[in-house]
Amino acid sequence: MRLFRHRMPSDEELTKEAKSAASVICIASGKGGTGKSILATNIAYLRAKGGQRVLLVDFDAGMANAHLLLGVVPKYDLGHVMLGEVPAQVALAEGPCGMKLLSGGVGRHALVSPTRRQLDRLFRALHPLEDDFDLVIIDHGAGMGYATVAHLAATSTLLLVSNPEVTALSDGYALYKRANMVNPEIKVGMVMNRCASEVEATNAWDRFRGASQRFLGHAPQYIGWVPADASVSRSIARRQPVTQMDPSSPAAHAIEGVSRWAPIDFARTHRPFYDRARSALR
Ligand SMILES: Nc1ncnc2c1ncn2[C@@H]1O[C@H](COP(=O)(O)OP(=O)(O)O)[C@@H](O)[C@H]1O
Ligand SMILES: [Mg+2]
Repeated sequence: MRLFRHRMPSDEELTKEAKSAASVICIASGKGGTGKSILATNIAYLRAKGGQRVLLVDFDAGMANAHLLLGVVPKYDLGHVMLGEVPAQVALAEGPCGMKLLSGGVGRHALVSPTRRQLDRLFRALHPLEDDFDLVIIDHGAGMGYATVAHLAATSTLLLVSNPEVTALSDGYALYKRANMVNPEIKVGMVMNRCASEVEATNAWDRFRGASQRFLGHAPQYIGWVPADASVSRSIARRQPVTQMDPSSPAAHAIEGVSRWAPIDFARTHRPFYDRARSALR
């Protein structure tokens, strides 16, 4: 046995190893209302439909709405897990195509402003989930509270969502800058959501890239743009992802493109995500 200690692992072993922990991506923006939850729920749905075991964690804690967008009524949420009332596996609700949702809870004070100790406990409780899924998508609230910053420090991959408005771009830039400060290796992809036209999207992206390059010396990767589309509002009213309800609509078509962004499949770090997130709290 010893003789083989340094041999190269076989393809099969490599695949096994790669499959042992989930890819983890964070979806964030500086400003609220840019479309993070729309993208998170639709990407989760599409990936689950494609056969992956997908977990969506709604970390807009205390003001969660992913369950509404998915038509799910969760019995438990992150608050129950944080307080040790149920194990994380028990707190999962089932969404379309077998995807799982861990809801953020609505109006729960403990979740709105958790202490570092509480967050550490939560991250520890979430850790085992990494082995049960192929992909974990973490949907964040607006801003840069330390829960979000801990996630940014831990993740290999971030999907940054903005609108073409100058306020959204400016807040998005602040988040991008912060993410790179706490995590110089982070891979960031940008989606310009709710654009009236490709020209508007391209202009907004050019401005963002220009400012990033000039002040930071680097910029995110441009994943693409999603049109402003009334089918999104209709899908919210129906409590179904737009990619499920109206897959041929322009928004659904564009979101499908975003969901195929290749770095999502390689969103892994050497150490488990929730280990890194716990370290980032210290
Ligand atoms: N592509 C789009 N077209 C039309 N409306 C959109 C689009 N994306 C988002 N919206 C609207 O913006 C609102 C906020 O989106 P949401 O994903 O909840 O934002 P966030 O999670 O970033 O706060 C949604 O309720 C929806 O009405
Ligand atoms: Mg949201």
